[in-house]
Amino acid sequence: MSSQAINSSVTLATRPFSMDKLNGGQKLAIHYFTVAMILFIAQLLFGLLAGMQYLMPDFLYNTLDFNVNRMVHINAMIVWMLYGFIGSIYWFLEDESGVEIVGLKLGKIAFWVLTVAVTIVVLVYLLVQTGSGTERSIWLINEGREYIEAPRWADIGIVAVMLVFFYNVAATFSKGKWSGIAGVLTLDLIALAGLYIAGMFYTTNISVDQYWWWWVIHLWVEATWEVLVGCIMAWSLMTLLGVRRKIVQTWLYIEVALMFGSGILGLGHHYFWIGTPEYWLTIGGFFSALEPIPLVAMVVHSIYDSGVHHFKTRNHPAFAWIIAHAFGNFFGAGVWGFMHTLPQINLYTHGTQWSASHGHLAFFGAYATINIAFFYLAVQKMRDDCWMGGNMPDNGWKWKAAMVLLNLGVVGMTVALLIAGYEQSFIERAVEGSSWGGYFAAQSHPWFIQAMTWRMVFGVMTFIGGILLFWDLLTIGKTEPRTAEVASQ
Ligand code: HEM
Ligand code: HEM
Ligand SMILES: [Fe+2]
Repeated sequence: MSSQAINSSVTLATRPFSMDKLNGGQKLAIHYFTVAMILFIAQLLFGLLAGMQYLMPDFLYNTLDFNVNRMVHINAMIVWMLYGFIGSIYWFLEDESGVEIVGLKLGKIAFWVLTVAVTIVVLVYLLVQTGSGTERSIWLINEGREYIEAPRWADIGIVAVMLVFFYNVAATFSKGKWSGIAGVLTLDLIALAGLYIAGMFYTTNISVDQYWWWWVIHLWVEATWEVLVGCIMAWSLMTLLGVRRKIVQTWLYIEVALMFGSGILGLGHHYFWIGTPEYWLTIGGFFSALEPIPLVAMVVHSIYDSGVHHFKTRNHPAFAWIIAHAFGNFFGAGVWGFMHTLPQINLYTHGTQWSASHGHLAFFGAYATINIAFFYLAVQKMRDDCWMGGNMPDNGWKWKAAMVLLNLGVVGMTVALLIAGYEQSFIERAVEGSSWGGYFAAQSHPWFIQAMTWRMVFGVMTFIGGILLFWDLLTIGKTEPRTAEVASQ
């Protein structure tokens, strides 16, 4: 009876989206989050197309080839995650600094410049696709560097936008107050933006090219991005659980020291087979093997804070995704990375689906999760700070189902890809001695094909989870009568 009564009153009162409670930075963050979510769905869609082409090589042949789908899939991923990070920082910048954002107008212009540039780049990827092997293609079509394929004109635009963003952050903290989180974050942004420059050179020597390219790719995901999510996680644990600043900051310093300690020289695990000197085998093997340690620290940190605060929060979805982040980061990056990081093992696994297995779990587990947590923080405030804890209307089935489908889907894909990678390492490398024929023997083996079929099954599950997530973000809290303030008393 009582739940009936609640339900009927619920349908009467709706909470429209409203920007009233948002500060300037948060309004801008909503723009960034919206584009991020759209690009996330695009990422999934192009992943499905590329995955289908493993099973049906003729599918969309000469219309949207595998290389194009793959490029859109992984570049959309990098870009949506960067949008999410930038949005998250704009989200907490005013609260953390205690003043209004300096140069917010410029920040807004930068958002539109970036978004128009991204749209043009994607259209060129899809409609033009390839060009002649000249400088012109590098400037106008793409730079051919996996993950950061934007053409050079867009690269320059991206750097300009990042400078504006950096100015917003540094000038705001300077005007207001510098906290420990603010200091770490600002130094990290210098490193993050600076490293991007290393991926903009052009050289005809593929070894030299790869050498610098990894400075962006590895040093981003295993150093600067990890530190960035460390800051974001620290801030969200304070907001979601009311953890004391002193505690989160102490953890942050420890994590950052460990992360840079192992992650920088850990870079060597990409220098094993690209023509660099042999000492990289030892350096890369040793330091990258230490990389899981800070990730363990991050899990212990979040579980410790949650335990002390009895998991009490007004935003269950955001909190659940933060926990998913701590575990996803540890398993995807730490465990799945560790598995193939020693040169003795990497000799057999390098460039097989083993890498793709790790790549999927790591990017999703470490970075998709924490962005999604922030999307939920944002929609809560846009629904006038409604209650998003227990006993929500409809029992919050949408966010829970989206969470299960996305996590199960990605874990399922990860396992399927691992099986395919195992099979490749065994047949192509160990049995056939890395020969040309061995490559094809491995690719056409039934175990490989079965694994790829299972990847598609779990890929579709992931996609459904993504759509449900989008729907939930647009509707959650709409019919929730309680505000967070009242319900948590
Ligand atoms: C969140 C952090 C991480 C992300 C997002 C990530 C992602 C990736 C991706 C996408 C690749 C494939 C790159 C390519 O296209 O060639 C890769 C390769 C690799 N990752 Fe990670 N990774 C992370 C952390 C780690 C850690 C901590 C380790 C080691 C403990 C590790 C070990 C490796 C190794 C050894 C390779 C090379 C695979 C090969 O030889 O083909 N990764 N990573
Ligand atoms: C709809 C589900 C998805 C499908 C069907 C899918 C499919 C694919 C395919 C076919 C590739 C190319 C692999 C190759 O070159 O052999 C790929 C690469 C990649 N995908 Fe996905 N994907 C999906 C979702 C995701 C998600 C959710 C993430 C992370 C958030 C992700 C991250 C990546 C990364 C990092 C690579 C590059 C891996 C490497 O080079 O080793 N994908 N994906
Ligand atoms: Fe790496």
